[in-house]
Amino acid sequence: MCARLATKRFLEIRQILLQSPQPSRSLSTALNYHIDSPDNSPDTPWEFSAGNKGRVKEILSHYPSNYKQSAIIPLLDLAQQQHGGWLPVSAMNAVAKVVQVAPIRIYEVATFYSMFNRTKVGKYHLLVCGTTPCMIRGSREIEEALLKHLGVKRNEVTKDGLFSVGEMECMGCCVNAPMITVADYSKGSEGYTYNYYEDITPKRVVEIVEMLRRGEAPPVGTQNPKRIRSGPEGGNTTLLSEPKPPPCRDLDA
Ligand code: FES
Repeated sequence: MCARLATKRFLEIRQILLQSPQPSRSLSTALNYHIDSPDNSPDTPWEFSAGNKGRVKEILSHYPSNYKQSAIIPLLDLAQQQHGGWLPVSAMNAVAKVVQVAPIRIYEVATFYSMFNRTKVGKYHLLVCGTTPCMIRGSREIEEALLKHLGVKRNEVTKDGLFSVGEMECMGCCVNAPMITVADYSKGSEGYTYNYYEDITPKRVVEIVEMLRRGEAPPVGTQNPKRIRSGPEGGNTTLLSEPKPPPCRDLDA
């Protein structure tokens, strides 16, 4: 695309975003924009809670004092947990102060990694893995079932503030595809958990949502009762005997 066309397109997208009272996250560009709103502006006061100030110190202690910026990701993660699952600009500015860098250094990180949410999410943020092995095993149907059951679009929050549905790339659990993860912000940073639900079906994913709604803790890991962890369904078919120890060289021979 020539430079003039690219600039024109940029201005068009910017105009769309500026006219929208709630910037849409369905445009990937929206993730990288900040538009001041009543609950998200540099003037909104934000600081780490008294309890989390101790955790900030502990995180910083893992890095040399002249490399504080190495703590940016864990500090953003803590700020996000404290703020109910998303990062307002004032939280990113607070992290910049802690690690003594220009705020742009923090914005660069927060807008690069998809684990950081720049707009509100539900107390339970449901992330469907959309990468090839999960997609082949039915992740699109899982997402459809979730969106239909909750009556939302991707990245929208349900009216009761409980749920939102997003997409994530491979979460390293392809052997039990398809899978989702649930970032649970319902108990603040103290009770924050990030749980994998594997071998799911459209029916099972709705059951999981309803268990969460009732305040229950659905069992994590595979949802296929015929599997143990990542083992084959119905038990092992090969490697049935106890493994032999590796042969050792007799160094005296
Ligand atoms: S592709 Fe879904 S976990 Fe790897």
